[in-house]
Amino acid sequence: MKVGVLASGSGTNLQALIDAATRGEMGPARVVVVGANVPGCGALERAAQAGIPTFVRSHKDFATREEFDHALLDELRRHGVGVVALAGFMRIVTPVLLDAFPHRVVNIHPALLPSFPGVHAQEQAFDYGVRFSGCTVHFVDAGTDTGPIIAQAVVPVLDGDDEEALRLRILAEEHRLYPAVIRAIAENRVTVDGRRVHVRGTPAGLADGHLRSL
Ligand code: GRF
Repeated sequence: MKVGVLASGSGTNLQALIDAATRGEMGPARVVVVGANVPGCGALERAAQAGIPTFVRSHKDFATREEFDHALLDELRRHGVGVVALAGFMRIVTPVLLDAFPHRVVNIHPALLPSFPGVHAQEQAFDYGVRFSGCTVHFVDAGTDTGPIIAQAVVPVLDGDDEEALRLRILAEEHRLYPAVIRAIAENRVTVDGRRVHVRGTPAGLADGHLRSL
């Protein structure tokens, strides 16, 4: 199963997917191309380092979101992508992309949705004073972080934490959860029933913590 990753930033989640594949933990899933809208972003460097083809399309060069998505779609199709993983991709995707990959565009969000969607999720959770936060992998729909939830992992907010400590604790779970979910999709273990998503099987390494849910 060929995975295309779209990113805008440092690309640590991309790195987690690459590293999981190297360890043989991705089943049939492989990142075959990385696209970015920010030239020179860390994700592009990480992809190049791993020998994965990249492309850059700046949204600023397109008049509409749809035209931008058509350009992304052309590249993803050219590489035979079957699953699109958004990994810190700071653009709203349109039905141009979503309809081309029905229930095959996924995103990772650094909060327990539906709490704290959008940007600054960790900061908002910290400022709100929640005792638990975490991350969510979900199918992407036309909204912002509103699609059906595939899996979540929970972390505590500890006394003495600052926002950065919470961000890093969540990020560590992101790096565990995203590869496991992409693998489950590639192994056809994920089914969607309206808003409810079922994942069959529990990947090794994710069942050992009482706060982890996949
Ligand atoms: C992650 O926190 C992810 O949940 C959010 O954007 C961030 C991307 O980080 N969607 P990275 O580029 O993968 O390091």
